[in-house]
Amino acid sequence: MKPAYYITTPIFYVNGAPHIGHAYTMIAADVMARFKRLDGYDVFFLTGTDEHGQKVEKAAQDAGQDPQAFTDQISATFLDLARAMGLSNTQFIRTTEERHKRASQALWQRLQADGHIYLGGYEGWYAIRDEAFYDEGELTVSPSGQKLAPTGAPVEFVTEPSYFFRMSAFQERLIAYIEANPDFIAPQARRNEVLGFLRNKLTDLSISRTGFRWGVPVPGDDAHVMYVWLDALTNYLTALGYPDETAPDWRFWPADLHLVGKDILRFHAVYWPTLLMAAGLPLPKRVYAHGWWTIEGEKMSKSLGNVIDPRELVSAFGLDALRFFLLREVPFGNDGDYGRAAIVRRLNIELANDLGNLAQRTLSFVAKNAGGVMPGRGAATTADTALWAHVANLPGIVAAALDRQAFNDALAAIWVAVRAGNGYIDQQAPWSLRKTAPERMEAVLALLIDVLRVVATLLQPFMPDSMSRMLDQLGIAADARDLASLAMSVPSGTALPQPSGIFPRFVEDAA
Ligand code: MSP
Repeated sequence: MKPAYYITTPIFYVNGAPHIGHAYTMIAADVMARFKRLDGYDVFFLTGTDEHGQKVEKAAQDAGQDPQAFTDQISATFLDLARAMGLSNTQFIRTTEERHKRASQALWQRLQADGHIYLGGYEGWYAIRDEAFYDEGELTVSPSGQKLAPTGAPVEFVTEPSYFFRMSAFQERLIAYIEANPDFIAPQARRNEVLGFLRNKLTDLSISRTGFRWGVPVPGDDAHVMYVWLDALTNYLTALGYPDETAPDWRFWPADLHLVGKDILRFHAVYWPTLLMAAGLPLPKRVYAHGWWTIEGEKMSKSLGNVIDPRELVSAFGLDALRFFLLREVPFGNDGDYGRAAIVRRLNIELANDLGNLAQRTLSFVAKNAGGVMPGRGAATTADTALWAHVANLPGIVAAALDRQAFNDALAAIWVAVRAGNGYIDQQAPWSLRKTAPERMEAVLALLIDVLRVVATLLQPFMPDSMSRMLDQLGIAADARDLASLAMSVPSGTALPQPSGIFPRFVEDAA
C-alpha cells in the first residue's frame, strides 16, 4: 500500500472576497500534494471555509443577509477560487456542514469527559477581526483612543460566562514536544517565536462565547456557542471521519503538514497541539508558517482599493505563470511583494526565454531535422556528462527541498539545469552537425530531450497544464510521468508529436 500523506490549507473566513493571499496558501499546498503523488504517496489534500463566529455573523448582518445564505454564497466563491487555481484537493470542507458540527461536539465531549473543560467567566479583550483574545499588556492605543491588538485590530472589552480549556496544564508537555521535534514548527524563526511565547505562563483558553448565536452549540449548554477557533481547527479531523476512528480516511491522521500564514501560527502551534494532547490524539508532524504578500509595496486593503482577485491574474498571465511566480519570487516563509513588472519579468525571462526556448529549440529542430522521432543516443562526451550531472540528482534535490517547503530552492535547482541545457545547445550547435556528424547531432538532441523530460516531470506540480503539454510533446505516456518512471528512457525512434510553443512572451498592450 502507498504511504499516506495528509496536507491542509487553513480554512478561509467567509467574510469577504478571496484574494492573492488566499490563493498563495492554496497553491503552495497544491504543489506539495501533487509532488507527493508523483513520488508515490496516497495524498489527502484538504481545503475549505471557516464559516462561524462573530466576524462572519457581522459580515452577514452588514450585507443584510441571513448568515447561512451569506456563507453559502461566499463559500462558493472560495470553491470557485480553488478551481481557478487548479487545486487537486481531495475535499472542500465547510464548517457549517452537519458532519462538522458532530465532530466538533464529539471533540468537546471527549475533552469534557476527561476533565479538561470547566465553566468560568471571561473578562478581557477580544478582537473580532482576529477572532482572538488578548492580554491587556499586549495592547496599544490608537491616536483616537481606540485600544488595538498587536495586529492593529480594534479590541473590545468582554465580560461573559465562558467554558475554559485547561491549556495551562499542557505547557510543559508542549515545550518538551517542540524541543524533541525540531521540524515540528517551521521556519526556524517561527519556531523560536513560539518557544519565546511559551516562556510566559500559558493561561487557560476561553472556548465558548455567549454574546451571539452563529456557532456550533456547546453540548448540553445552549446558552453557549463554541469559540470559532476550536470549531475551525477541528475541521482537520472532521474531513477524515472523526469521531469515527474506524473511518477509512482516518488512517491519514496525524496530518503531515498544516500550511498556515504567519498570523495564525499560535492557533496551530499552541492551541491545536494542546487540544490534541488533551483529547489523546496524535499531533500533526509539521506546521509551516508562510509570509504575507503586499501589493506593489502596500498592504492589501479594501480601503486602498488594491485587493487583487487572483482570477484576474490568471486571465492576464495564465494560471501556470501565476503559480510559478508566487513560489519562485520569494523564499517561502518570507514576505513577498506582488508587482506587475515582477511577474512579467519572471514569465518572459524564466518561462519564455529559458524553459520555453529550450523546449522549442530542441523539439522544432528534431521535427525538422531528425524525422520527428526520438533521436538515437550516443556515447557520452565530457560535455554530455557535465550537462547530465545537473539533472541526475535533481529528483532527490527537489524532493528534499519540498520536504522543507523550500519551493524556490527546488525551482532554482531546476533552473540551473535549464540554463545548462541552453548553454549546451549553443555550444554543441546541432545545426552545424547536421551535415558533418548526423549521429552526433542525434545524440545531442536525444540528451536534450532526456533533460527536458526530467525537468518537465519535476515541474508538473508547479505548472500542471503547461508541463502536461510539454510531456506530450516529449512523447511521454500519461502513465509514465511519475518520479519512478524517470528510470525508464523513451526508446529511440518513438514518434514525437508536432511541437508548439508553450510559454509565449508577455507583451504589454500599447494602450
Ligand atoms: N479562518 C482562519 C483560519 C482557520 S484554520 C483552522 C483564517 N482565515 S483567513 O481567511 O483570514 O486567512 C486564511 C489564510 O490566508 C491565512 O493563512 C492567512 O495567513 C492567509 N492570508 C491572508 N492574507 C494574506 C496575505 N496578504 N498574504 C499571504 N497570506 C495571507 O485565518
